[in-house]
Amino acid sequence: MKNTIALLKTRLEAALVAAFGKELTGTDPILVPASNPKFGDYQANVAMSLAKRLGQAPRAIAEQIVQNLDVADFCEPPTVAGPGFINFTFQTRYLETQLKAIQADPRLGIAPTEPPQRVIVDYPSPNIAKEMHVGHLRPSVNGDCLARILEFLGHEVLHLSHVGDWGTPFGMLIAYLEEAYPEALATSDSLDLGDLASFYRSAKKRFDEDPAFQEAARLAVVKLQAGDEETIHAWTIVCGLSNRTNRKIYELMGLSPKIQERGESFYNSMLPDVVEELERLGLLVEDSGAKCVFLEGFTNKEGKPLPLIVQKSGGGYNYATTDLAAIRYRVNVDKVQRSIYPVGVEQTNHFMQVFQVARRAGWLTDDLEFIHIPLGHILGEDGKKLKSRSGEAPRMLDLLNDAIDHARADLEKRLQEEGRQESQEFVDHVARVVGISAIKYADLSQNPTSGYVFSFDRMLALQGNTAPYMLYAYVRVQGISRKGGIDFTTLGTDAPIGLQEEEELTLAKHLLQLDEVLAIVEENLYPNRLCEYLFELSQKFNRFYDRLPILQAAEPDRTSRLILAHITAETIKLGLSLLGIPVLERM
Ligand code: ARG
Repeated sequence: MKNTIALLKTRLEAALVAAFGKELTGTDPILVPASNPKFGDYQANVAMSLAKRLGQAPRAIAEQIVQNLDVADFCEPPTVAGPGFINFTFQTRYLETQLKAIQADPRLGIAPTEPPQRVIVDYPSPNIAKEMHVGHLRPSVNGDCLARILEFLGHEVLHLSHVGDWGTPFGMLIAYLEEAYPEALATSDSLDLGDLASFYRSAKKRFDEDPAFQEAARLAVVKLQAGDEETIHAWTIVCGLSNRTNRKIYELMGLSPKIQERGESFYNSMLPDVVEELERLGLLVEDSGAKCVFLEGFTNKEGKPLPLIVQKSGGGYNYATTDLAAIRYRVNVDKVQRSIYPVGVEQTNHFMQVFQVARRAGWLTDDLEFIHIPLGHILGEDGKKLKSRSGEAPRMLDLLNDAIDHARADLEKRLQEEGRQESQEFVDHVARVVGISAIKYADLSQNPTSGYVFSFDRMLALQGNTAPYMLYAYVRVQGISRKGGIDFTTLGTDAPIGLQEEEELTLAKHLLQLDEVLAIVEENLYPNRLCEYLFELSQKFNRFYDRLPILQAAEPDRTSRLILAHITAETIKLGLSLLGIPVLERM
């Protein structure tokens, strides 16, 4: 419908000029979805806003616009209501044609955005000296979803994981590697070091019990930063172990395989130059030995401007310097127009500060959009930050496996109640898809910037705005096709779609809105808008399914309704795939 709305807007603009003269060229007709479906599909509110300027009553203005408006090819005759709203209802015949056109289109009529942009989505970007934990869930899930949507809309997307792969935390791991696996350093073969978790635990144990080991760890950091060859080799091994472990988690989560690690270490050689350039630009100030940029709009308790340190007094660089280098590189080398950082809300100041410095340095210009999406916290049932039984941030792998276990328990109970026998393979597959999807959907269906309570019961509920509800709507349609022996791909290619009943019309209109919804998410980067759309779609489909006969209906209604059911299933499938969620044929 995006094209239809654009068309309606153009016609309204022409009518405004025809009615009131050239001065009104470019006036926004203020076209919005109807406040109440009783009044139509869309309404234009421009008459109210012009009253003063034209010195006429809004209703009279609305009447004149309508007299000069030609939309007979796709709308019912527009009506004027209330103080001067102009109401539009799309012709049923027009909706039927639009649906018919997308019936066999894998993109469901959604055209790529012109011109496409080059975009970076910075995710999931964990710190790799440690295991991934609950803090990486929202960046992973939101980043993956945004990358998928932007890619679908034709943009060229780089999935860049800005992994924390440098600095102090590696000292302990390198020292442990050198101590426990001296042979690892002698060969260039990849060595089996077990999983990162136990490697990390053993290293931490050594660190906590032995001051001499602590000294070795400290030394390892110094040698790493000095570029000592052997230490770098040890560091490479630890990074490899870590990245391999995380890859398995990405795979389990179903994140895009296009994620590339481009971590903090990638920018090491550029850091001195970043500082030099800031110095050349006159932005740098030396403050008790540290090099910093004083920030605008950030002050301490005494009201003095806060510094952003880019080089510590010992000469070392930090997280901010690295992000400045990354911005410069993304602009100059990657040549992106947009760089999206879905990262926890606690890093809001960090991003505001580095973006500010990058703007003042002239690296970020007004035509570029570098944006931090401040993701809210995941909370426990007690409303506080989610913790594991031992009081730490829950490990990502535990969360994922717990979700799968919960999904399996639900499924086994349901199978028993329904007296169904299914293979172990079926149970495993469904439990995995439902469990992981439930976690992702529960996250994406929330406003990304607000916190939400993590609850397996709620995210796995078969009713409500949940993954299982959406998956089930899809399964229902596949059930119709199995029951009726219908092949949707060849169904009614030449048969008409007829929208007579209210449930059909409501469903049809909703189906045609996906492109508008995606355009909104493309701009505001809030995936919950897409979830809301899919939830409403499933509800509208369920009403259609419950109230109208489909397989039992007489022709031509039968085929027409089957086509509607098919387009609904395809829309759910596409929508879920953009959230990073696969569908199930049965569940
Ligand atoms: N490694 C950081 C963390 O785990 C997140 C990095 C986000 N991206 C960035 N360009 N700073 O907290």
